[in-house]
This record gives sequence, C-alpha cells and structure tokens, in this order.
Amino acid sequence: MVFEPKILGFLCNWCSYAGADLAGVSRVQYPPNIRVIRVMCSGRVDPMFIFKAFQVGADGVIVMGCHPGDCHYLEGNYEAEKKYNMTEKFLKLIGFDNRVRLEWVSASEGTRYGAVVTEFTQQIKDAGPSPAKDNEELLFKLKALEMAAATDRMRALVGRERHITEDENVYGEKVSLEKFNEIFDKAIKDEYERAQVLLSLEKGVNNVKLLAAKLDIDPSIVLEHLLILKQRMEIDFGEIMENTPVFVRL
Ligand code: FES
Repeated sequence: MVFEPKILGFLCNWCSYAGADLAGVSRVQYPPNIRVIRVMCSGRVDPMFIFKAFQVGADGVIVMGCHPGDCHYLEGNYEAEKKYNMTEKFLKLIGFDNRVRLEWVSASEGTRYGAVVTEFTQQIKDAGPSPAKDNEELLFKLKALEMAAATDRMRALVGRERHITEDENVYGEKVSLEKFNEIFDKAIKDEYERAQVLLSLEKGVNNVKLLAAKLDIDPSIVLEHLLILKQRMEIDFGEIMENTPVFVRL
C-alpha cells in the first residue's frame, strides 16, 4: 500500500492561513495530506504541541507564519523561530529529526503555499511512516520531551534568549550567544532526563539504581536530578527499602 503521510500544519491567521486560502481559491494543486490548525500567530505554537502531535500519530509537522518583519504582533515569528529551534534540538536528542519544518508564507503567496506543502509532503514520504507508531519506547521519549519543553526553566530560557544575549545585566555584562547556547543545550539535556525520571517514577521505577539502569544514565547524575526534582516539589522520599531510599512522584 502506498504510504500517505499524516501531516499537521500550524498556520498563523494573518499570513499563512490566508495564503492557504488563496491557494484554494486559485486552484493551486498540492497533496491532500496536510491537516491545518489555525493559530493567531506562529509564536503561539508551543513545542509541546509538536511533541504531542507525534505521540498521536502525525508523520510530520509544519509551522507557517508571516515573513520576518510582517508579523501582526510584531515579533511573534521571532518567538516562533526560537521555539522551533528548541523543538529541533529536543527531537535530535531522541533521533527523531527531519520531520518538522518552519516556513514563512504570506497572504499573497498561494502558489508558494502549494509548493511548500508539496515539498514537505515529499520529504515525509521519503522519510516513511513515523517510527513512533506503536513504539512504546519512542512514545515514552516523546512524552518526556513534551514535559521537558513545558518546564519553567525551558520556557524562561527560550523566552528570554534575546534579552539575555543582547542586553547587559545589572552588572553591565552581556552573555555571548555561544555561552547562551552552551547553557541552553545543557538545560535541554537535563530537563529531558528529569522528565524521563518523573515518567519512570510513575511506572514504579523508584530508586537510583533502577532509574540509572532503565534510563542508561550515571547513578550520580540520577541522584542530582532527583534532588532537584525534590527541591521543585515534584517528588518526595517514600520509604527506605533494603537500605535504599525510594522516591515517589507527587
Ligand atoms: S501573525 Fe503571522 S507570524 Fe505572527
């Protein structure tokens, strides 16, 4: 049977959705694989939405917004780009890249809309069906990404990147983009592992040794994650079993 991918498109109301509309009234031909969700601005597309889409069966996800400088809310598409970059980094962690795309399509670019959808559909056809389907391990990882992307730390970092790298702090210091990326990449890895720890606790994997073995992470790092999660009041000590502290998800 020929593989027909399920593609989810998040289109901003003011440019790309109007561009899709124009493609329709202009009878531009493009593959019927895309299902569209209209959002007010591409900046509204939370990386969580993308990880969720893959968990429920999407083979590819595309985000479309106004060209830089044209956003109805001035800088929403700038935010979209930051969030998209974070999404790509998260997906790379689990080897699930090459199934997302960010494109700028204006209200007058009906033909371009058709071309972008055609090209992305072909890319996903070439990549084949999503490996997440019926794959418990990958679904677990995608769920962990969804949780990690929603943490206050990741939201703060992605939302304040420009401020942190372009403005001086109260001591008159500026963080270089290189330094910021280093911090950002470390945060991505840490939050992903912490989300995995939380999900594992829900499944009864509840002490350092078991968590380290299941997640293939060094036990000292698992302990560090557990202490931070305890500080955040997301977990607590349960009991001591055979001289080993057991943790519970709150
Ligand atoms: S309104 Fe279109 S990207 Fe912001």
